[in-house]
Amino acid sequence: MGKIIVVFVGPAGCGKSTLVAAYSKWLREGDASVYTVNMDPAAETLPYEPSLDVRGIVDAREVARKYGLGPNGALVKSMELIAERLEEITSRVAAAEADYVLVDTPGQMEVFLFRDLSWRLAEALRGISPESYAVFVLDASVIRDPADYAFLVTMATAVQLRLGLETAPVLNKIDLAPGLEITGDLLRDFGRVSRALRESGSVYAEMLREMLRVLLKYNRRVEVPQVSALKGEGMEELHRLVLEMSCSCGDLS
Ligand code: GTP
Repeated sequence: MGKIIVVFVGPAGCGKSTLVAAYSKWLREGDASVYTVNMDPAAETLPYEPSLDVRGIVDAREVARKYGLGPNGALVKSMELIAERLEEITSRVAAAEADYVLVDTPGQMEVFLFRDLSWRLAEALRGISPESYAVFVLDASVIRDPADYAFLVTMATAVQLRLGLETAPVLNKIDLAPGLEITGDLLRDFGRVSRALRESGSVYAEMLREMLRVLLKYNRRVEVPQVSALKGEGMEELHRLVLEMSCSCGDLS
């Protein structure tokens, strides 16, 4: 089996870094070798020791000082500087002897996703291993109603379109959303969400319903793992999802 590469994407504070820490710990406890990559040049602290830390190549604080920029400007400039040295980063990933490579992306999702660096990185990772995937992490407390559920599924699809990597949604911070009505089974949830959207009767709800129907038609996975990175819970579900995306589906050893 070659490397399985998983890129963690999601809005600021959704728990990407904590999830990389929890999942890498869980994988290592199962005797897998894991290579972690921090791609956030502005990360203050990380809950894991990255195998490759982009801050050693481009540090957003130094960029801010050198170019006289504010935090957002420094991050944008940092993305450009990282893009210039992308080969250095990806060649280290290619050389890493690991079963899994977990890539933690910048907190400011839009600065990463809407710039060249994101798809160039995804393309390079695909070149290193065809088993390269992305996980779209969302804070579970964001999911309050059926329209939010449609948002989760469409965002994961948007990330997939942008990166060209198969992308699955994951709900994190489930410990903060005890009353969540989403079951984690896309098909079962779809029936409930679809009914609720239809009952609302608005054109917008109808559009969401149609969008969900089409997206799910082409989605071969049915589960959305609900995890708590902080508590290290739900890692089996996350792992099952990663293996489902990979060619080694069913091989849990
Ligand atoms: P940035 O990259 O800095 O935007 O954040 P991130 O998406 O990497 O999130 P990070 O892992 O830094 O977590 C942000 C905050 O959420 C931290 O205070 C974490 O301790 C907390 N957090 C992460 N996962 C969970 C979780 O499952 N449950 C709870 N309750 N808190 C969590």
